[in-house]
Amino acid sequence: MKFLLAILLSISIIPQPSSVTEKGGSFTLGPRTAVVSHCPEFDEVAADFRQEMAVPTGYALAAKRHLFGRAIILEKDESQPAEGYRLAVGRRRVKVSASDAAGAFYGLQTFRQLLPGSAYSDKKVDGVAWKAQCCHIEDAPRVAWRGMQLDCCRYFYPVETVKEFLDMMAMHKQNRFHWHLTEDQGWRIEIKAFPRLTEVGAWRDETAGYDEKGDGIRHGGFYTQDEIRDIVEYARHRFITVVPEIELPGHASAAIAAYPELSCTPDEPKKVATTWGIKKDVFCPSPRTFGFLEKVFDEVLDLFPSKYIHIGGDECPKDAWRASAYCRNLARELGLSGVDDLQYYFVKHFDSYLRERGRTVIGWDEILDGSAVESTVVMSYRGHKPAMRAMERDMKVILCPNRWCYYDYHQNEIEDLPKNHHLFITLRKAYNYDPVAQIGDSLYNAKSDLILGWQACVWGEFIPDTKQLEHQAYPRAAAIAEFCWSRDENRDFADFCTRIPKEFERLDARGINYSKAFYNVIVNMNLEEDYPRDVELEIDVPGAVIHYTTDGTEPDASSPVAPSLLRVDKGDVIKARGFTADGEPLGVLMTREFGK
Ligand code: ACM
Repeated sequence: MKFLLAILLSISIIPQPSSVTEKGGSFTLGPRTAVVSHCPEFDEVAADFRQEMAVPTGYALAAKRHLFGRAIILEKDESQPAEGYRLAVGRRRVKVSASDAAGAFYGLQTFRQLLPGSAYSDKKVDGVAWKAQCCHIEDAPRVAWRGMQLDCCRYFYPVETVKEFLDMMAMHKQNRFHWHLTEDQGWRIEIKAFPRLTEVGAWRDETAGYDEKGDGIRHGGFYTQDEIRDIVEYARHRFITVVPEIELPGHASAAIAAYPELSCTPDEPKKVATTWGIKKDVFCPSPRTFGFLEKVFDEVLDLFPSKYIHIGGDECPKDAWRASAYCRNLARELGLSGVDDLQYYFVKHFDSYLRERGRTVIGWDEILDGSAVESTVVMSYRGHKPAMRAMERDMKVILCPNRWCYYDYHQNEIEDLPKNHHLFITLRKAYNYDPVAQIGDSLYNAKSDLILGWQACVWGEFIPDTKQLEHQAYPRAAAIAEFCWSRDENRDFADFCTRIPKEFERLDARGINYSKAFYNVIVNMNLEEDYPRDVELEIDVPGAVIHYTTDGTEPDASSPVAPSLLRVDKGDVIKARGFTADGEPLGVLMTREFGK
């Protein structure tokens, strides 16, 4: 949809920089513009930018400056903070000053966002004046971990999809790609020592989801080690660290299907899971399994230079261990509090194994249950309580509380989309996430240094393809990106909404199937309250007005304007829609029968 209210702000950057001072005039990127690095450390950043900008502009930008020509100059400035930059856009010269290559890269990302949205096109665009508003910008990130997680196991996504995901992360100055690579429903990483992991474990007979009945369609795929190296390198050019996740001890059905001896019940039939949910057949804590996983990690470490390695740790039922005489004996011999604490034994072993090799382990917050290994980093997804428990023990944390950060949940309750979790996170909710309110002032203020940062997660159960993935991830990825990058004093949802039209231009330029829920009416109410109850109708589009009806007819711009609170009774039907100031309808019609 063409955004009719488009506020012609020339400066519309996401994430919002620390300070922006607009100046008169503009800089025009032309065929003779040079992109010049004044510091060898920034040469690659400059070269990559010339190459990237050559696509939409068709210009072969120069590496050397003509005497009087326009230029974009990268220069070293030790006074800039890590990953920070100063961007000065003048009529003939753009200067990016940074103390490290990441800062130089982010300065150029900001410059690119000053250009028309089509500067992000993956094809040549004709007839565009590549103008950037003159300005002075100072900027630096709020936290070091600005992540996005992607589950490539429930469904397999091609390399190109992963690269596009990385491109969008780079555009949003996100720097940690948490890549979920092993699961019950598919093992996605080639391991040379164990070819059956991908020959067998990467394929399932069909997909039944949460239903009994499958679709009869074989599904699978995996990333070869060459493809993984290529992706890691692609990410490196974009200042993104790829953090692989190899799940243990649970979510292991695909590995067990390939090598049944890794389970406590090797003689029972095994297969790669075709349904979603938590599976009881998990890795057996035997020397054989440990030896297997060590060899897997040896190859993983060779592929991924990341300091952090994610070992999963979530949702591991202990039934198979409790039923196993071997496990009961082992727990006794080890002096553990019970069989359940074999999870701790697993985590402790691989924490030591990986630490000896210079890496740091991350695990989902279940690694805190029972005994905890204090050198691990806790990824808190079941709300904030696990993060709080970890912080109280001075353990480092990364936060992705599902109610704000699980972008596989729908963006709106009125989207006509495949069956999902029946939970939704609007753009507004994603943006207005407030960890201080959840964690509490005193703990947050005393120990916020332990928070490495935040990330959004995109789990795949309801995301069968790239189009749906794009729909789930965008534009909410912009919300978590701004949350992670911009300090609270620079963040404001209403202001963010004024920058969304330009964001959509950028996404359109890449042909991304982002959600249009931004244009829809949001219904807020307290589900606990008796009828009649107050209902709030909201729309995030700046300047939009909501018109509504109660007689079953479709509202138009002459229908009553919705008050901020509407009193509704059981059985009432409200139809509502946003309209621009010119009376143009926005989004899709919202129909709600209350009390149903
Ligand atoms: C998770 O959502 N099981 C980490």
